[in-house]
Amino acid sequence: MASLENDRFLRALLREPVDRTPLWMMRQAGRYLPEYREIRAEAGSFMNLCTNPELACEVTLQPLRRYAMDAAILFSDILTVPDALGLGLYFSEGEGPRFERPISTAAEINALDPARAASELGYVMDAVSLIRKELKGSIPLIGFAGSPWTLATYMVEGGSSKDFAKVKSLAFNEPELMHQLLSKLATSVAAYLSEQIRSGAQAVQIFDTWGGALSHNAYREFSLRYMTEIIEQLPREADGRKVPVIVFTKGGGQWLEAIADCGADAVGLDWTTDIGAARERVGDRVCLQGNMDPTLLNASPERIRDEVAQILTSFGEGSGHVFNLGHGITPGINPDHVAAMVDAVVELSPDYH
Ligand code: CP3
Repeated sequence: MASLENDRFLRALLREPVDRTPLWMMRQAGRYLPEYREIRAEAGSFMNLCTNPELACEVTLQPLRRYAMDAAILFSDILTVPDALGLGLYFSEGEGPRFERPISTAAEINALDPARAASELGYVMDAVSLIRKELKGSIPLIGFAGSPWTLATYMVEGGSSKDFAKVKSLAFNEPELMHQLLSKLATSVAAYLSEQIRSGAQAVQIFDTWGGALSHNAYREFSLRYMTEIIEQLPREADGRKVPVIVFTKGGGQWLEAIADCGADAVGLDWTTDIGAARERVGDRVCLQGNMDPTLLNASPERIRDEVAQILTSFGEGSGHVFNLGHGITPGINPDHVAAMVDAVVELSPDYH
């Protein structure tokens, strides 16, 4: 078993005792950091950053030099998988991610080859190995992928969407075709995450950013089912340690019991759910991760500290909580306010353990 100086993140995910609540932050490497913007400018484009293992490693480590984070997260993007499948990912200023070749027809879905997710994403595996080496056993590394449903929304819509009209039309008018697409994506994501684990990822998170856009029944049919399939296929141990899986469905608060049954070790919460109430519902089955509203980082350091205290109190005593935001940090946040959040977790949480 490779030794780890700080393993409280992995321990909390498995609800084992810890000395304080561990924390990391979704999008902890990103545009709110001036040192990120500098490297991003030198790289010329976001994809140049992602595809260069040295640069991806450098930006992964940047937030760790400022804050007492208990985990690092691979610097990459969920949309590298559809890019590897041949859709041609690019980022246009102000518009977010776009695909040159979105898909919608049976012929286009038939032509997708899941094997490309493993064969075309060697640059991600090189980044994972390099980051693990540079972390030198200090804290664990999180790997990640998008859920099949969330990836499908971008692949069918051609980019971000407000109403998901195209992808929902496909799901409701041609369910067999939609299931064929989701099934291919599940195979791709399972292979991709397995490869990340073999390359050194010590925990993995599935980002289901748009699961909450589905109805009660459609969520189970088009999103949760495929995340369950992926989890069944993952290697559950590496270096003699369990590799915990976190599922984060934004807007999934109403379905926590079902999510807690999908095979994941931890469930990510957005900020609309009270974490104490969530614990009562599922806390004997899974760890809970979250869930401060990211826009609270615009408030004063005192207000941020109060919010951290409220979340810790709401969860209550004992292990099984990983502190995080309820969604990714946004570009305009003052880095000093992140420090206020981190300090509050470090200083206030030992009382709960
Ligand atoms: O958490 C981390 O620090 C790891 C890195 C990470 C990024 N994207 C880096 C990134 C992770 C985990 C993601 C996941 C991701 N990407 C999701 C799921 C999580 C979520 O936020 O809901 C989604 C939906 C995407 C797709 C995507 N990629 C969007 C919508 C954008 C923003 C586009 C824009 O211009 O605002 C991206 C780009 C992106 N991914 C950036 C970063 C740091 C910013 C791009 C830049 O630096 O120019």
